[in-house]
Amino acid sequence: MTDKYAPVPEDKFSFGIWTVGWAAQDVFGSATRDAMAADRAVRKLAELGAYGVNFHDNDVFGFDDSEAERDAKVGAFRKALDETGLKVTTATTNLFSHPIFKDGGFTHNDRDVRRFAISKVMRNIDLAAELGAEIYVAWGGREGAEFGGSKDVQSAMARMKEAFDTLGDYVTEQGYDLRFAIEPKPNEPRGNILLPTLGHALAFINELERPELVGINPEIGHEEMAGLDFAAGIRQALWHGKLYHIDLNGQTGPRFDQDLRFGAGNVGGAFWVVDAVEEGIAKGQYTGPIHFDYKPPRVEDDNGVWVSAAACMRNYKILQAKVRAFRADPEVQEALAAARVAELATPTLAEGETWADLKDVKVDVEGLAAKGMAFEHLDQLALEHLYGVR
Ligand code: GCO
Ligand code: MN
Ligand code: MN
Repeated sequence: MTDKYAPVPEDKFSFGIWTVGWAAQDVFGSATRDAMAADRAVRKLAELGAYGVNFHDNDVFGFDDSEAERDAKVGAFRKALDETGLKVTTATTNLFSHPIFKDGGFTHNDRDVRRFAISKVMRNIDLAAELGAEIYVAWGGREGAEFGGSKDVQSAMARMKEAFDTLGDYVTEQGYDLRFAIEPKPNEPRGNILLPTLGHALAFINELERPELVGINPEIGHEEMAGLDFAAGIRQALWHGKLYHIDLNGQTGPRFDQDLRFGAGNVGGAFWVVDAVEEGIAKGQYTGPIHFDYKPPRVEDDNGVWVSAAACMRNYKILQAKVRAFRADPEVQEALAAARVAELATPTLAEGETWADLKDVKVDVEGLAAKGMAFEHLDQLALEHLYGVR
């Protein structure tokens, strides 16, 4: 019997090399697993049915590696990609692990660090373009501060803009077919991070010289750390035409970045996330991979790592089936009609009307105020699909 939830490359599932490759060191303890070479991650993910990978420069080679060491490790990575057919959908730069980046990269107070950070990004952009990546993620984990006085936020924004403008010039002049995706996060590892939510990032992009080259890479856990509704956030990003990439994982409310496997944590939220992603795909607004950025828990051994990676993909497909069944259910369609959901797509002003037509508008104030919205029934149907009783 074929398993309808088994992932296949056509599903376009991708993983960061650093997710399954995480050796599970944390703030309180050392690694519980061995370091994993990037080529091993590629081979194992391909066996599981993934489509692609995302990598930081230093997931593939070390910060201090010589040119020869770098070339050998990139060669092994490339060989694994060629042999498995896995794609590099996305790439990114590690501007957070090395002590030089303790105060960030693009917004470090020290100008020399900022210059070095931009150069490090350009070097990895060359590799990303060579490997066929179409999206370049920028997560500014160390761009921020713990204290109000230590960071001049207005200057930091100017320097952040300068970095993206410079990188936009770089990819344009090199003729690379590469767009950037900013990944917001409210805190961790810094006390407070600049561009903390997807809304801050969307506003920032409008200030850039080449806004068309820059979108966002929102992560479930990051928005939920800020108490926000992730599905609504990505639907807004789709509306702006700015959802260039997505980081899926699991989170249980505002706390540290849990990086649970996708589908764990806020299960109801995950249902609506899949509904929103599927809407974006159906409308041609989202064309990127279904990407997972999570961490197999520290308690797992190597076998557990692959169990959890497989579960991310399986959970997406389970939720996808549930979302489709929900949308196709005639009772749900009746409930949507009763809740007047589709009516929101009708413009408030009729064609040719202006403000003058609304100035003295008369509606049935008492009748409309008394009428319920019938949302509870609609949401109960969603829950029953999710709970598996419909
Ligand atoms: C985190 C982030 C990172 C980024 C990655 C790619 O909270 O650690 O989510 O995993 O996604 O660095 O830029
Ligand atoms: Mn994260
Ligand atoms: Mn992420």
